[in-house]
Amino acid sequence: MYNKRVKVKDLLQSEQTGHEVTVMGWVRTFRNSQFVALNDGSTNNNLQVVIELGLLEEANLKRITTGASLKVTGEVVASLGKGQKLELKAKSVEILGDSDAEKYPLQPKKHSLEFLREIAHLRFRTNTFGSVFRVRHALAFAVHKFFNDKGFVYLHTPIITGSDAEGAGEMFRVTTLPFDNPPRGENGDINFSEDFFGKSTNLTVSGQLQGELGAMAFSEIYTFGPTFRAENSNTTRHLAEFWMIEPEMAFCDIEDNMNLAEDFMKYLIKHAIDNNREDIEFLDQRLAEEEKQKPQNERSELGLMEKLQFVLNNNFERITYTDAIYILLESSHYKKKKFKYDVTWGIDLQSEHERYLVEKHFKKPVIVTGYPKEIKAFYMRQNDDGKTVAAMDILAPGIGEIVGGSQREERLEKLEERMREMHLPVEEMSWYLDTRRFGSVPHAGFGLGFERMVQFVTGMTNIRDVIAFARTPNNCEF
Ligand code: 4AD
Ligand code: MG
Repeated sequence: MYNKRVKVKDLLQSEQTGHEVTVMGWVRTFRNSQFVALNDGSTNNNLQVVIELGLLEEANLKRITTGASLKVTGEVVASLGKGQKLELKAKSVEILGDSDAEKYPLQPKKHSLEFLREIAHLRFRTNTFGSVFRVRHALAFAVHKFFNDKGFVYLHTPIITGSDAEGAGEMFRVTTLPFDNPPRGENGDINFSEDFFGKSTNLTVSGQLQGELGAMAFSEIYTFGPTFRAENSNTTRHLAEFWMIEPEMAFCDIEDNMNLAEDFMKYLIKHAIDNNREDIEFLDQRLAEEEKQKPQNERSELGLMEKLQFVLNNNFERITYTDAIYILLESSHYKKKKFKYDVTWGIDLQSEHERYLVEKHFKKPVIVTGYPKEIKAFYMRQNDDGKTVAAMDILAPGIGEIVGGSQREERLEKLEERMREMHLPVEEMSWYLDTRRFGSVPHAGFGLGFERMVQFVTGMTNIRDVIAFARTPNNCEF
């Protein structure tokens, strides 16, 4: 019977003593052939199991090594040792799985994050990754709670699609055609009508277009699923496979959209603090240690918990793209030629520009609106100035862009015109344009990059450390 076991977290929280329980978990350390620090992943706090002399034969004692799994039944007693109120006085110890101490890669010492990435199949067993992935879970749960409580419908949009939602062309192709000899048409091009779906298909870069179809019936929907981008970006903020949350709301303008996005981010942060305080405090300490290694002028002014509290208690700054360019041009950073990329109206803000705005200038999250239409997707609503669109990006300290969204172009003629300008296949997308033909309404939505949000809440610098098994250029291990 395995289901009679209690979880270490519940046991430690109950503070009750005198009763018998069964626990199961993995050995973190074994001291003096007597004290086991047992962890079952429910918390970073280990349960101290005391194995009195003579309870186990010598041969079995030797099998209690770091990484081995145990089933222990015993009496919960008050602990005399430091650091814990309770401990378990073992009556029986069963070794469920041995772990060869010589070969086990996780030694009871500090390992670098780079090393742990190479053994990502075991890193969940460390305190850092225990905390990160419990927080990730809490945030995922909070996403559903937030939208469910508001009456949004969770729409599962397809993973395989025949369109490029963002029009950016950074897609992974899905095909069953033979590589060595694919069927070709008369002009020599590959004939995708003979492919599995009878057309060329790819992994989705965003569920937005299908999300819009849902919003035109349910009023408010959200998606939460994996998305894929074949961008060759080897940075601490890009993954080839990442999770995105995309709400889409009918009867909604850019203002409502910004308010929802800000509320949503704050809700997620608050949920994590309320439900995973211990983990965040642990990560706060971890980050503080990491910061100590940096030169003084590169250290962040606030600790993790302070930063999260600050974000909760302050409004996000709201500025236009034009203002942002002005601030950058006026900055001493620009005048001292410290930016690598040039600044002029019309550029796509580079990550160094975004980080200057949030980290140096405003020192808080910033929502930028009114981007030039040339650098944004075809579906964004055109502003009356003829130059900008009703886009909004949220930039966060330490991360840069965390949310991208817009009010959508609901006027059929304007949308078709823009699609033609951008050489998009208007006829093929007539299913999308139908929303503008039959009962079109002002609507808006955004996409929150889930891993970037997890980075923000956990303080982890590298996006590879907040997803279980990262997919990045030249890396698809595990
Ligand atoms: O700004 P993006 O490309 O927007 C869209 O896909 C829209 N269709 C969203 C919408 O309006 N429904 O992506 C949205 C967010 C970014 O702000 C970023 O947080 C994240 O997705 N993101 C990535 N995260 C990790 N790795 C990547 N390669 C990412 N690309 C975008
Ligand atoms: Mg974007």
